[in-house]
Amino acid sequence: MKIPMSSPDLTAAEREAVAAVLRTPNLSMGAEIQAFEESFRQFTGSRHAIGVSSGTAGLHLCVRAAGIADGDLVITTPFSFVASANVLLFERAVPIFVDVDPDSGNIDPALVRQAAQDLLSGGTAARRWMPRSGYNPKLEALPLKALLPVDVFGQPADLDPLLDTAREFSLSVIEDSCEALGAEYKGRKAGTLGDCGVYAFYPNKQITTGEGAMIVTNDDRAAAMMRALRNQGRAPGDTWLQHTHLGYNYRLDEMSAALGRVQMARLDELIERRMQVAGWYAERLAELPEVEMPRLAPYTSRVSWFVYVVRFQPGLDRDAIARRLERAGIPARPYFLPIHLQPYMVERFGFRPGDFPVTEDLGLRSLALPFSGVMPESQVDIVCQTLSKVLQ
Ligand SMILES: Cc1ncc(COP(=O)(O)O)c(C=O)c1O
Repeated sequence: MKIPMSSPDLTAAEREAVAAVLRTPNLSMGAEIQAFEESFRQFTGSRHAIGVSSGTAGLHLCVRAAGIADGDLVITTPFSFVASANVLLFERAVPIFVDVDPDSGNIDPALVRQAAQDLLSGGTAARRWMPRSGYNPKLEALPLKALLPVDVFGQPADLDPLLDTAREFSLSVIEDSCEALGAEYKGRKAGTLGDCGVYAFYPNKQITTGEGAMIVTNDDRAAAMMRALRNQGRAPGDTWLQHTHLGYNYRLDEMSAALGRVQMARLDELIERRMQVAGWYAERLAELPEVEMPRLAPYTSRVSWFVYVVRFQPGLDRDAIARRLERAGIPARPYFLPIHLQPYMVERFGFRPGDFPVTEDLGLRSLALPFSGVMPESQVDIVCQTLSKVLQ
């Protein structure tokens, strides 16, 4: 028996909802996307919810709607899935990486404040935060536009101090909650804390639509722009072949939306099941002194487990452990490889090992174990027993 890295949690209700769409002629832009969006307005209390084809697409629309363009700077984290930084590069903006908190893996708000202050004051203080290449070094006033924090592994970033910094320096906040649907920060829902937030629905996420995502915002102007850009730049009043803006096809089809609507109705149950599996892991891994378990910050009033990522004590060879687990039939993945050390980032911005030491340390020591809400306790047992043997 092979233990999967992750599995969606689907029932007959999801299958029937998708099949029902296939019995109609409306496979795109119909009642299902409207119902799915409405479920997010209800859940988040946000004025607008916009279904899109992926988390990457959703974040890209947030970047476009915030007016972030060529040469603009955005402070973000190097400890994330690459898409959170790539969406800046799509618009030729410059990601200003700052390091993360070693416990949560989320962006360090004190560093963010310092970076914002230094960048806006210019001169040598600003240079400390800029990449070695990939921007115009002659710029006097640095065009810092936004913060893009990521809620890593289902735990919200420390948003209150980030929002203070954003207010102080008039910056937009785009919250990448692609991994954190259902998580709460001091009782407030992750994804709703900034100007706009994005949840993603790849099959390993809390809910899935196959591919897909949802943007939420209270900003009427941004929402109208994102709706237009999602749909090939058609503004209200445009016909099918009129395009007011340069847009994209970032629509979510009706089959995916139907699947998402049913999953969303089960969200609490899905999160609870993931919590239970994380609890089984925590009980067993407590007996392995070489393994550090995921740490929850005091501000996390509800975690919404996305992946279960452990860290090995310094000095242990994470990759060798992963290889031995694989050989024993247990998949495991390093999570994350730091964004600033991806080859195209190094080439463009001149990043080097050592630039973001906390991120790099986490990147070297972290391993995601098999995890999903449908994982039986017996499989958690097998993973932990095998890990224990490998460590011995
Ligand atoms: C933090 C983060 N941001 C963005 C994305 C992009 O989402 P998608 O894969 O749906 O494009 C993901 C998805 O894995 C993610 O984990």
